[in-house]
Parts: sequence; C-alpha cells; structure tokens
Amino acid sequence: MIKLNSVTKTYKLGDETIYALDNVNLEIEKGEFIAIIGPSGSGKSTLANIIGGLDTPSSGEVLVDGQSLAKAKDKDLSRYRNKKVGFIFQSFNLQPNYTALENVEVPLMFAKVSEGKRKAKALECLKLVGLGDRTNHKPSQLSGGQRQRVSIARALTNDPEIIIADEPTGNLDSKKGAEIVSLLKSLNKEKALTLIIITHNASVAAEADKILSIQDGRVQETRKGS
Ligand SMILES: Nc1ncnc2c1ncn2[C@@H]1O[C@H](COP(=O)(O)OP(=O)(O)OP(=O)(O)O)[C@@H](O)[C@H]1O
Ligand SMILES: [Mg+2]
Repeated sequence: MIKLNSVTKTYKLGDETIYALDNVNLEIEKGEFIAIIGPSGSGKSTLANIIGGLDTPSSGEVLVDGQSLAKAKDKDLSRYRNKKVGFIFQSFNLQPNYTALENVEVPLMFAKVSEGKRKAKALECLKLVGLGDRTNHKPSQLSGGQRQRVSIARALTNDPEIIIADEPTGNLDSKKGAEIVSLLKSLNKEKALTLIIITHNASVAAEADKILSIQDGRVQETRKGS
C-alpha cells in the first residue's frame, strides 16, 4: 500500500516559491488502478515521480508497504525503484541503436542478471506484450504503439508491483492509445499490479478505480461510483 501524509514539494525561483504539490494526503491500495488528471503544470508528474522514488518531497511522508521514501538514502531509493516500480513515459525513452530485445534487457543489465537469464526474461516480457515476433527490430522499424509496448516490456522485467505511466498514450493516435491502456489494464488485473496512469484523456481516466484530479498542487479524489 502507498500512503502520502502531508506531502509538499516546493521550488524556489528567486523570490517566488512554487508549490508543485501542496499538502497532499492519499492512500493507494495494492492492485488499484489510479488515474491522475489535471492541467499542464498542476503537479501530476511531480506526484508520480515522488511515488516512484524518482523525486523526494520537500516535506511530508511517503510510505510504501511501510517503508519510508521521503527520507530514504539514494541507495535505498534506487533499490526501491529497481525492485518495485516500472516506469513508462510518453516518449518511450528507447535506445535507438538497440533492438527491442536489447532495450528490454537494459534494467536487467543494471541488476547484474546473467546474459542467459536476461535474454530469457526479456523475451518472456516481449511475448507478454505481444511482440514475440519483433525482438530483433530497432525502434525505428517499429510502429508507435509497438515502441510503447517495448517500453512496457522493459518496465516489467524486474517483476514490479507498481507501474507508473506518465502520459503513455500522449504520442499515439486514439486507437493505438486504447490498445496500450487495455494492455496496462490487463496487467493490472492479471498480475494485481498497482497501476498509476497520468492522462489528459477522459476516456482513459474513466476506466480507473479512482481518479486523482490535481489543480495547483492540490489533489482531489474521486472514486468510481461516488
Ligand atoms: N525543477 C523545477 N524547478 C522549478 N519548478 C519546477 C521544476 N519542476 C517542476 N516545476 C514546476 O512544478 C509544477 C508542477 O510540474 P509537473 O511537471 O509536475 O506538472 P504536470 O502536471 O506534470 O504538467 P504537464 O501536464 O505539462 O506534464 C509546474 O508549475 C512546474 O513549472
Ligand atoms: Mg507531466
């Protein structure tokens, strides 16, 4: 379970203090599908990055399964990210010179997994996203939706418990975007992965169990059916 207590993130620019997050309190249950919506600059990525251990709050507490992230050392935060979290970004962030398989292997290289195990796991994850027949293609030889599926496979290699997707459909047309969301949703259901999606797309948000709507760093929660 993820719990945020009075989380605030500020940036100082000259005399001005920007509240990227302003006293955020929330709880996310294991296996929940959460959508984060809100205008540009409202704090969506800041919130997702803090939950994913890519960033730390200025004040407040972040607890994941009882482990405190707010005051964690860099080493512990990177272990948390590598073990528990899979990130997916709008721009895919794939290495252009690597094949699909090699791209998916990258986190396993960082985790110092042996070559044989690495290739087997990367292939398993590519098959899971329906790309078992595209392992030797470079990103430029794949469609946008396929590139995003490679980045999803890469996010799955370490068997994460939490998937954080920052506008995963932002660079895709609506049909490909819907396919990506339904793939993420099936992982959420079948593997009981906690799924956190930032989206500008109302129909994506409508599929979530809970919607966190952010305005000027303040979060409002809407649960389905309420
Ligand atoms: N390093 C930084 N220094 C100063 N201000 C920052 C920094 N990073 C983010 N901000 C500010 O914090 C606020 C929240 O940024 P954030 O990236 O979380 O927005 P967002 O909701 O993800 O927006 P978008 O939809 O455009 O991606 C913004 O007003 C932004 O200008
Ligand atoms: Mg953002």
